[in-house]
Amino acid sequence: MKRVDDFRLRLGGKEYVPIMIGGMGVDISTSELALEAARLGGIGHISDAMVPDVSDRKFDTTFVKDKTKAYKFNINNMDKSVVKFDLDRLAEAQRLHIGATMEAKKGNGLVFVNCMEKLTMNGPKETLQARLMAALDAGIDGITLSAGLHLGSFALMADHPRFRDAKLGIIVSSVRALQLFLRKVSKLDRAPDYIIVEGPLAGGHLGFGLEDWKDYDLHTIMDEIHAFMKAEQLDIPVLAAGGVFTGTDAVEFMERGAAGVQVATRFTVTHECGLPDEVKQEYFRASEADILVNGVSPTGYPMRMLKSTPAIGSGIRPGCESYGYLLDATGNCAYINSYNREVLANPDAKQVVVMDKTCLCTHMRNFNCWTCGHYTYRLKDTTHKKADGSYQLLSAQHVFEDYQFSVDHQIALPAREE
Ligand SMILES: Cc1cc2nc3c(=O)[nH]c(=O)nc-3n(C[C@H](O)[C@H](O)[C@H](O)COP(=O)(O)O)c2cc1C
Repeated sequence: MKRVDDFRLRLGGKEYVPIMIGGMGVDISTSELALEAARLGGIGHISDAMVPDVSDRKFDTTFVKDKTKAYKFNINNMDKSVVKFDLDRLAEAQRLHIGATMEAKKGNGLVFVNCMEKLTMNGPKETLQARLMAALDAGIDGITLSAGLHLGSFALMADHPRFRDAKLGIIVSSVRALQLFLRKVSKLDRAPDYIIVEGPLAGGHLGFGLEDWKDYDLHTIMDEIHAFMKAEQLDIPVLAAGGVFTGTDAVEFMERGAAGVQVATRFTVTHECGLPDEVKQEYFRASEADILVNGVSPTGYPMRMLKSTPAIGSGIRPGCESYGYLLDATGNCAYINSYNREVLANPDAKQVVVMDKTCLCTHMRNFNCWTCGHYTYRLKDTTHKKADGSYQLLSAQHVFEDYQFSVDHQIALPAREE
């Protein structure tokens, strides 16, 4: 019986344990988590979602405070189009976050950064370019472009001296999205170095419809992608993501042609994960009925989360002067519209309730949007329940090695803590 460790992921002439820990913003996939994957010979992701805020928390910078101060005059104005990011400061935050992570790297693995293109930041092209260029400046091993992948992003980095040496990858959920992307980058003579195929059971935003995600199956999509790659004679590693819960799940994908897997949910309950400990306990306690896919993300993509997510229904004032990561090219965000509608309809209410959308920036920043993978309800089976009813957290190394060495869908429990 094969185990993950019988396979290797080949990237740029080197070999890695074929386990990637996926990016989880905002700072849920911390540097510590990504660095563990790299130390163990695999690949870890940090995320650049809301990086100025992440930098403030880690390095005592004042990016968010300064932005809030600069745009304070606009707080009661529902037109947010003036609230722009200072591109130099954005790049500085990115270099701090990534530079410090790369300096701490040990071992033979790699650290990548997950860049969600749906963070349109009231200037989609220039803010994305600032993030990408700064990530390359800071020595990141690779960049994974995700959520909202638009076809021109490789071109935004084409002038960087590391454009051909850093690993560049994409996340897609269909063969069609892959075809479109490959057609576009063929002009640059720069194909992606790896492709992550994310199925409908993943955490975070989904590349499927709110109603139809259940109709899709990752094995089927992977098979379609393998067939397409073969027909086009393309030799790019393809990794499967979304619902890979055991090492054996991973082996099943690799035996059908995957070069590796990207996993995340099992690491949300590790010490190294950035979620507060009490939220990790919510993830452990979740039952299958507690997990839903809804449309509250203002990005327009369905998102999976715990039903008890405090962000659902919360009618806080839009925090765009401080954050504003989801403002589109015209300075709008779907939450602002929903919030205004409720304020107009309830003029006397101290605090409105907004059910259809949520202020994702503020709630992700405060760990109040409990996004999670479909199999979160199985996390309780991966550890011990303690006498006080809480669950024992795991180490990232334990989970990583469980994926790497387990067979027969077994999950190794950690040594019991007193
Ligand atoms: C808590 C959480 C947050 C996530 N955030 C992001 C994100 O910011 N960007 C992204 O591209 N994917 C995100 N994902 C998706 C993961 O990177 C990964 O591809 C997927 O969840 C893998 O499936 P699994 O969780 O079933 O292992 C997130 C997943 C989780 C569980």
